[in-house]
Amino acid sequence: MDIKVLANPQEIGAAAGKIFCDFIRNKPDAVFGLATGMTPVPTYEYMANEYAKGNVSFKKLTSFNLDEYCELPREHKNSFYSFMVDNLFSKIDLDHKNINFLDGNAADPAAESERYANAIKAAGGIDIQLLGIGRNGHIGFNEPADEFSDEAFKVKLTDSTIQANSVYFDDVPMPRYAMTMGIGSIVRARKIIMIATGESKAEAVKKMVEGEINAQNPASVLRNHPDVTVFLDREAASLLSKSPESV
Ligand code: GLP
Repeated sequence: MDIKVLANPQEIGAAAGKIFCDFIRNKPDAVFGLATGMTPVPTYEYMANEYAKGNVSFKKLTSFNLDEYCELPREHKNSFYSFMVDNLFSKIDLDHKNINFLDGNAADPAAESERYANAIKAAGGIDIQLLGIGRNGHIGFNEPADEFSDEAFKVKLTDSTIQANSVYFDDVPMPRYAMTMGIGSIVRARKIIMIATGESKAEAVKKMVEGEINAQNPASVLRNHPDVTVFLDREAASLLSKSPESV
C-alpha cells in the first residue's frame, strides 16, 4: 500500500486524475471502476479538463460504478448514475453504451449481482478502480460486517452512512438500501487508487492502514492487494502512527 500525502483535494484530484488519464492513454480500451461521493469530484474535474484540452480520449473506455441506491429512479438527481453523468460522463467522449451500473431497483438482487459479475468478466475485469472511503471505513457500500462479501449484493445502509448522505436528499427520503459491488469484486481490480480527505476520514484511514484486517474494518482488506496507491491530505492522514511520505 503506497501512501502519499498531498496538500489539498485539488492536488489529490490532479494526482489521481493523471494516473487514470495516463492509464487510458496507454490502454485506450481500458476498464475503469469508478466511485461517487464528494471526494472523487476533483479527480473527475481533472479528467474532464484533460479531455477538454484534447490531451486524452475516453472513446473506448468501459466503466463500472461501485454502487447505486435502491428505491430511487436511475434519473433521480441524487442517484449515483446522475452524479456520474453530472460530474464526468457528460463532460467526456465516453460512449454511454459502455457505462455499467448496478440496477438498484432490480427485483432480484442475486440475479442482478450475477449479471454485473458477468459483465465485468466479459469486459476482461477492471483494470483500475477508484475508491473513496466512508467515515465508518466502508468501500463502495461494503459496511462493517461479520465477513467479507464477494460479488455484488443488496446492503442495508448503516445509520452512519445514512446520516452522512441524507443531507443531499431534499425531495425524497434517503434510501435505506443500496446495491454495491462486493469486496471480492473490488479487490479483483488489477490496480486500486484510494483517495480520502478531511478530518472525518482520519479514523477510517488509520483503521485501514493500521487496524486489524477483518470485515468489521472493510477497507483494511486493501492491505492484501498488490497494487494500491492511497492519496491523503494531512487531515485524513493525521491519526497515522508514522507519517507517510509527503509529496
Ligand atoms: C458513499 C459511497 C462511497 C464513498 C463514500 C464517501 O458511501 N458509496 O463509495 O466513498 O460515500 O463519500 P465522500 O467522498 O462524499 O465522503
